[in-house]
Amino acid sequence: MTQPHNRVYIFDTTLRDGEQSPGCSMTVPEKLRMAEKLVELGVDILEAGFPIASEGDFEAVREVSKEFPWVQVAALSRATKKDIERAADSLKPAKRPRIHTFIATSDIHLKYKLKKSRQQVLEEAAAAVELARSYVDDVEFSAEDATRTDIEYLEEVCKAVVAAGARTVNLPDTVGFSVPDEHGEMIGRIVRMLGYTAIVSVHCHDDLGLAVANSIAAVKAGARQVECTINGIGERAGNCSLEEIVMAINTRQDRLPYKLGIVTEHLYPASQLLTELISFGPQPNKAIVGRNAFAHEAGIHQDGYLKEKSTYEIIDPKTVGVPEGRLVLGKHSGRHALNDRCEHLGYSLTKDELDAVYDDFIAHADRKKGVMDEEIVAMIRRHSVPSAIAAD
Ligand code: KIV
Ligand code: ZN
Repeated sequence: MTQPHNRVYIFDTTLRDGEQSPGCSMTVPEKLRMAEKLVELGVDILEAGFPIASEGDFEAVREVSKEFPWVQVAALSRATKKDIERAADSLKPAKRPRIHTFIATSDIHLKYKLKKSRQQVLEEAAAAVELARSYVDDVEFSAEDATRTDIEYLEEVCKAVVAAGARTVNLPDTVGFSVPDEHGEMIGRIVRMLGYTAIVSVHCHDDLGLAVANSIAAVKAGARQVECTINGIGERAGNCSLEEIVMAINTRQDRLPYKLGIVTEHLYPASQLLTELISFGPQPNKAIVGRNAFAHEAGIHQDGYLKEKSTYEIIDPKTVGVPEGRLVLGKHSGRHALNDRCEHLGYSLTKDELDAVYDDFIAHADRKKGVMDEEIVAMIRRHSVPSAIAAD
């Protein structure tokens, strides 16, 4: 049996998993600025920190809970009394608090990290959920390293935590090891086993560059919560990128008919704000929010784009908050694109004028990575194009 509805909840962990990675730490006021943007963006659950980890994380959860009382705020805790109490304390001002408690379930983690038996971990997981439920109604349990956990044991753990009161069961691909069909199979099995008793969630890391693909496979198999971050920041290679999964679902409704609560026009502004707050931005060719995500350079592409944008653009940049697509003028650009830019700059060239400027432009572009507008204007003037003189 699959989940009863097609609404997929976006659980944002930019301020927790994202923030705990190198170069991404944020102060409490910075987290509050980011939280405000995430709220505008419409994330369903906002994980604001790991309160036992530091005073700053504790305060961040408390301040986010105070500032945005209508938002579902989550605090992370290990499956221990001290952690859960600290998380509960930080969430006191929240109207819709969620305690997110976790313990590793794979044999590798049990043997080398926890040095505990499967039975011990099973009991601790259920006890942690029960304790968390004594503080809040909304408890999420995560089976850390779920994708490398023996599936029958994982089923037992999921059953036990739901019986103890967990409403959401998260199955992280903690080390980004899974591949999409395998991931879908695992999620589908747990979804069928739990039926409608809990929401199954995914949390995919990107070590093999498959976090978004794995998350999509999970949703198709019945997961109804996706944990993700702006710009895909997070431990090591990062987490599932929020903007990518959201736009994949929105753009491909024919294959992915799921509903989201995200206001997509805030995606790019959210990415920009995060870049301002941490020490790095997305790579230029990053889908959706990278500097080149809507830039066209090849002549054939520019020509098609100028005739009809949909020839080379599957998303209207405005729908993600990017003002408009850009034509990057470089050595692959054709006359059509150059003429378009000249007109944009206020110069209407005859065919001969355009030919002269184009030759100059190509010689220049061959030596450079991109040609700036000022350089194009200089070329027009160099060729003493009458319309350029008139424009003076
Ligand atoms: O990657 C992971 O397993 C986690 C859990 C704590 C949810 O971040
Ligand atoms: Zn993680």
